[in-house]
Amino acid sequence: MSPTSTTRLGPAPNPDSLDVEERMSRDELENLQLTRLKQTLHYAYEKVALYRQKFDDAGVRPDDLVTLEDLAKFPFTTKEDLRVTYPYGMFAVPMNEVVRIHASSGTTGRATVVGYTRQDLETWAGLIARSLRAGGVRPGHVVQNSYGYGLFTGGLGLHGGAERLGCTVIPMSGGQTPKQVQLIVDLKPDAIFCTPSYLLTIADEMIAQGIDRGSTSLKFAVLGAEPWTAEMRGELEERLDIDATDIYGLSEVMGPGVANECVESKDGPHIWEDHFRPEIVDPDTGQVRADGEHGELVFTSLTKQALPVIRYRTHDLAALLPGTARPAMRRMERISGRTDDMIILRGVNLFPTQIEELALHIPQLSPHFILELTRPARLDVLTVRVEPREGLEAVAADLAALELSSSIKRHIGATVRVELAAVGSLERSSGKLKRVYDHR
Ligand code: DLL
Repeated sequence: MSPTSTTRLGPAPNPDSLDVEERMSRDELENLQLTRLKQTLHYAYEKVALYRQKFDDAGVRPDDLVTLEDLAKFPFTTKEDLRVTYPYGMFAVPMNEVVRIHASSGTTGRATVVGYTRQDLETWAGLIARSLRAGGVRPGHVVQNSYGYGLFTGGLGLHGGAERLGCTVIPMSGGQTPKQVQLIVDLKPDAIFCTPSYLLTIADEMIAQGIDRGSTSLKFAVLGAEPWTAEMRGELEERLDIDATDIYGLSEVMGPGVANECVESKDGPHIWEDHFRPEIVDPDTGQVRADGEHGELVFTSLTKQALPVIRYRTHDLAALLPGTARPAMRRMERISGRTDDMIILRGVNLFPTQIEELALHIPQLSPHFILELTRPARLDVLTVRVEPREGLEAVAADLAALELSSSIKRHIGATVRVELAAVGSLERSSGKLKRVYDHR
């Protein structure tokens, strides 16, 4: 998967409009990280019993961190830690300083609850404003925010940052797709924020309403909260005549805006390293890996008050790459999947994004597909159910399905069944899309 397979690039911001941290040298940035990291370790140790316990068990003290690399001596934090201290046990401030609660959209088990002080909300809004600016959004733009409002961090997170940047926000939230399109037509937003799969749903609805490609006011889309591919970007940019960038984040670390892609380079999200120190570790052993190597992303917050996180295991798989459009801030490669989303099919590992990538290379196939896992005999079977493009002849559709199964065999090494689904029959996304149905 090439993060740069798009040829279409957007306008760079005026350098004067960047935050000072975005213009720092790597040395300056690392000095800032070191100062903030020392403060955070002391703060977490003093204020959160669980961190004190974990550090003590591991035989480390905050003062053991002298260089940034010393972070590797400290224990990881996991979702399980948040679960056992549910709901507020890892908060580092008294509840009367917590002004907002969100919860992670975890599909398994209890939600994890996260909290923000007033200062945390300020920091978050600033980082979302920075993210949106990176994505091409400017003060004065009208923006339609179609991330869900509520406990999910997407809606209110993007909302606060867009206001901070100086935009006019349409707080549409997710769902009600015909109305989404009506608002786009009537209120003429310059940008839209939602998951990539939901923008696809909106794009389909536009076709259903007879709205032409490129005839809307939309110019930018800031898309995230789920894995997507360069191929999906190409599809959305082409269909809507927009520039689309990737926004990344997770509730436990803050919410959206931990990293965002720059529209002038579209080469993977830049991590806002003045607030988060990233590491890549071996998902099995926890050993730190070098930049450029693949593994699990781990984040340490550098400025958070209500819920500082030390070496939080995200389960997201990526690699750290050198900065480009913001030279001091490293990029993350587009997330290929989560450790817990990986399908192991008779010894072959695969991620839904790999199927998306291959399906979208076949012009006769639409991006609408699901993966079904069954175990009819003793062996696992993966069925890809995919809709062909509208109006395609049955013979051409059958050939395209065959082509997809041989392409999956060739590129991934897995034998899968590909079945065609009637156009419009698969469930459409209204937020985070569920791709995998495990019937085993
Ligand atoms: O999804 C935060 C968010 C909201 C990000 C809006 C971007 C836009 P959670 O619900 O806690 O938070 O889910 C976090 O979603 O660990 C990833 O697995 C996945 N994820 C988020 N952004 C991306 C992305 C929000 N750009 C989990 N690419 C994370 C791939 C993403 N996966």
